[in-house]
Amino acid sequence: MSVSENIGVPSSSGSQSADSASPRTCANLDTVKKFVFKGKKSAESSVIEEVEILIPEKAQANYHCYTWPSAPILAWFLWERRFELAGKHILELGAGTALPGILAAKCGASVTLTESATLPKALEHIKRCCEANSLNSSQVRITGLTWSLFLPSTTSLGPIDIIIGSDCFYDPSVFEDIIVTVAYLLESNPQARFISVYQERSADWTIEHLLNKWGLSCEHLPTNNIGAESGIDISELMKDHTIHLLEITKK
Ligand SMILES: C[S@@+](CC[C@H](N)C(=O)[O-])C[C@H]1O[C@@H](n2cnc3c(N)ncnc32)[C@H](O)[C@@H]1O
Repeated sequence: MSVSENIGVPSSSGSQSADSASPRTCANLDTVKKFVFKGKKSAESSVIEEVEILIPEKAQANYHCYTWPSAPILAWFLWERRFELAGKHILELGAGTALPGILAAKCGASVTLTESATLPKALEHIKRCCEANSLNSSQVRITGLTWSLFLPSTTSLGPIDIIIGSDCFYDPSVFEDIIVTVAYLLESNPQARFISVYQERSADWTIEHLLNKWGLSCEHLPTNNIGAESGIDISELMKDHTIHLLEITKK
């Protein structure tokens, strides 16, 4: 296992920096990235609190064992709302290395991390990511959830407050599968919302017709101020990518 070099963003900005992690928990992995989130302990306080998250990744990454650029953006969005997360049940779809969900768990949420049930290695990788951050089964649950398949693991998730997804809209072939899953989950949890951050890969791709078809509303949330209160330059985190933030709810 080698350790990642700083790839350009200071660790205080919440992106990757060089660090080491336990070889026991990260065996057979090539890189461990460290993400640091900092901010005031409360609105009135001048005391700074900090959460560090270690993410083991593989060099020859499958979609699920690499942290995609949307994930730190979603994580920062959640970090800025950390005081509202405690005690909430958050469900992450297509979690991959699960940075946003792991951060939510560190902020006191009860988190269910999901990946395609057809990808046991992806589920194992999430387990490794949780172990690297000393999360236990009372803080996170890991389960197979394949978009558009309504297996008992999907239908027995219990009440959900927030659904999150980073870079799930990565290919049009999966758009309806995700949306039908989200529509089902919001039907059972009408007060919940789906916070989705995705990287634009083609300006021609759209989900609007699918949102209408499945009775969902969508609001584009601004990204330009994310991280500002912690001194983060979000454009530095996004690099050359165009990244969008959506809040999807039931109509
Ligand atoms: C582009 S990756 C994003 C991974 C991670 N959320 C991130 O942002 O770093 C897309 C993720 O969706 C998962 N995925 C793809 N098809 C899926 C399906 N049908 N059901 C559930 N998850 C799926 C992949 O395994 C992969 O982890």
